[in-house]
Parts: sequence; structure tokens; C-alpha cells
Amino acid sequence: MSKISAAITAVGAYVPEFVLTNVMLEKMVDTNDEWITTRTGIKERRILKAEGKGTSFLAIKAAQDLIQKTNLDPTTIDLVLVATATPDMKAASTASYTATQIGATNAFSYDMDAACSSFLFGMSSAASYIESGRYKKILLIGADKMSSIINYKDRATCIIFGDGAGAVLFEPNDENLGLQDEYLRTDGSGREFLQATYGGSSYSITHEVLDNGGHYAFQEGRTVFKNAVSNMADAAVKILERNNLTKDDIQWLAAHQANKRIIDATAQRMNLEDSKVMMNIEKYGNTTSATLPLLLNDYEDQLKKGDNIIFAAFGGGFSWGAIHLKWAYTKHKTNLN
Ligand code: UT7
Repeated sequence: MSKISAAITAVGAYVPEFVLTNVMLEKMVDTNDEWITTRTGIKERRILKAEGKGTSFLAIKAAQDLIQKTNLDPTTIDLVLVATATPDMKAASTASYTATQIGATNAFSYDMDAACSSFLFGMSSAASYIESGRYKKILLIGADKMSSIINYKDRATCIIFGDGAGAVLFEPNDENLGLQDEYLRTDGSGREFLQATYGGSSYSITHEVLDNGGHYAFQEGRTVFKNAVSNMADAAVKILERNNLTKDDIQWLAAHQANKRIIDATAQRMNLEDSKVMMNIEKYGNTTSATLPLLLNDYEDQLKKGDNIIFAAFGGGFSWGAIHLKWAYTKHKTNLN
């Protein structure tokens, strides 16, 4: 019997309407459009403004987009995984609320958090469930309302992050398309350099913490940058080498959109031409768990069945890795004009 492989068979996405531009940030913190553009590649990011609406709002919209585009019957979904670093609440998963709201009434569901690597690691989990033969349809959603943990007085973080969500459906494939190999790692000694410290079980939020903005995300950018460049590139190259893939075998690099310079460095180490590097950081900034599915959504029309895609990510924890996936479908354009 041939091995069941796990393929992505559909994509959906959602970003909120409100656009926070570099020029707007110039009025909020000591920064400028030129610095942000040259140091990060970001021009604007989306922010979810509605009070009382959390990450599930984004996740539901992305899932509904996928469901509408593919006419998927949500009652056939077996599992809903929500990859997120900003769950709606500390208890009661974002995934269970999302699953119910989209009508996935026969699914079980839970959240996964590995900071900016959440979606990459989620791909591994979703694929493993499919490969086991126990489940047939797994909806993996990457969603983050980063604006809920960002201090808009801290120029080290507020220029980078944005809100958004993307969803993919994993299904069994008998043509050996889908996830081929993965190299995933974590190193807890790096957690001091990128964290939202207070409000978890170690350190509670006090009035003093609130006054000092300790409930927001903190990043020591330079250290994270150095580690991101070396680890993301190492992981991507390792995946190429151990699968005997050359740069000519690869059609696309889908790398976590944290900083254009990190993505460029990874592509350079892989010897990949710019035309093979998916990029949308200029529009959305770093949406944490949503960057990879937002790339797939933006590039879906250009992807062809059999394309070799290398996914790569690096994030808090530290957490990082790379995945080789063979794309499973060519989207046929319907030209109604
Ligand atoms: O997604 C999870 C993983 N996260 C990442 O991968 C992010 C990794 N880090 C980065 O992307 C970059 O480190 C940042 C974009 C956060 C910062 O860029 P950088 O090139 O590492 O800047 P830096 O912190 O080394 O600062 C360089 C200079 C400093 O001035 P001096 O000391 O050279 O005079 C900073 O004070 O730029 C200054 N600076 C700014 N200037 C204008 C720092 N932030 C800003 C700012 N606007 N927002």
C-alpha cells in the first residue's frame, strides 16, 4: 500500500480594513518611512480596530473565505487547528469558538503556539494527522491580532507587527504531493529576547506592570535578527541538501515575513532568484502566525501542481525550521469578461 501524503488543497485569508502606514507611525513614535522601509521592507500593516473582537474574528473570516471559495461543507472537517500567539482568552481555546462559528460541528479543535513558528509547526501536526490515516480534512488557521500585545509607544516593535489570518485545508493525497520533509527546532535559551512576559502563569499583571507597559511584547531586535538569519537559512539549506534538491528544483520560497532582509539572506543562502521568493511584507508587516498562509493566498494563482515550495520560519522561543512541500493543484482561472 502506498504511503498517504498530506497535501494542501485550499487556501483562504482575511486582513482587517484599517491600514496603519509608516507615515502614520511617524506621528506616533520617533521613526520615519525611510528607516522602516530600508530596515524592514514594511510600508503598511493592517489593524483590527473593533473592541471586543479578538483573534477568533480574524480566524473565522479566513476560514469562511476558504469555505466559500471551495464550497467546502464545514461539517466534513475533522479537526480545526488555530496557530496563534494571541489567543482570544487564556482559557477556552480560540479554535473551539472558531470551529463552532464556521459550522465545523463534527470537528475537535485546539490552539497551537510556537510564536512566529506556530503555523510552520502546525503544518507538521496537520500533516501527521492526515498521514496517520485517522482524519481526512484538517483546517489549519494561522491568526494573530498582534495589535493586542503591541505598545504603540515602542518603536522597536510597533513598526513591525500587524493583524491578519490565513487558512489552509490539509487532505490525503495518493500522488505523493504535499508535505515531503521537515526540519523543526526550538531553543529556550532565546526566550528572553522576544516575549510578552506578564499575564501568564509566571508573572501576573499588577498595576505597576500596567503602568510600565510590561503587558506588551518586548523584543531585543538585533539579537533576534542575527539568530533568525542564521537559523532560518540553515534550516532551509538543510532541507535542500538532505532531499538532494538544487535551487533549480525549487519553484518558491515561502518564508516568514518578519523582515525583508532576513528573507533576502535566506534566499541568498539557497541561491534562489528573487522571482522565486514570495513577498508581501510591504502590505501586512509581520502577522506572526498568519504570514505563511497569507503568502499562499496572495500567490495561489501562480502556483502549479507539483511545484516544490520551501517554507521557513523563525520566531520567539526561539523556534524555527523549514518544510518542503509539493503543491497539489493548479488553480484554473475563470475569465468571465
Ligand atoms: O517574527 C519574529 C522574529 N522577529 C524578527 O525576526 C525581527 C528581527 N529583528 C529585526 O527585524 C530588526 O532587528 C529590527 C527591524 C527590529 C531593528 O532593525 P535593526 O537594523 O536591527 O536596528 P537596530 O535595533 O540595530 O537599531 C539601529 C539604529 C539604532 O540607532 P543607533 O544606535 O545606530 O543610532 C536604533 O536606535 O536604528 C535606531 N532605531 C530606529 N530608528 C528609527 C531602532 N528602531 C528604530 C525605528 N525608527 N523604529
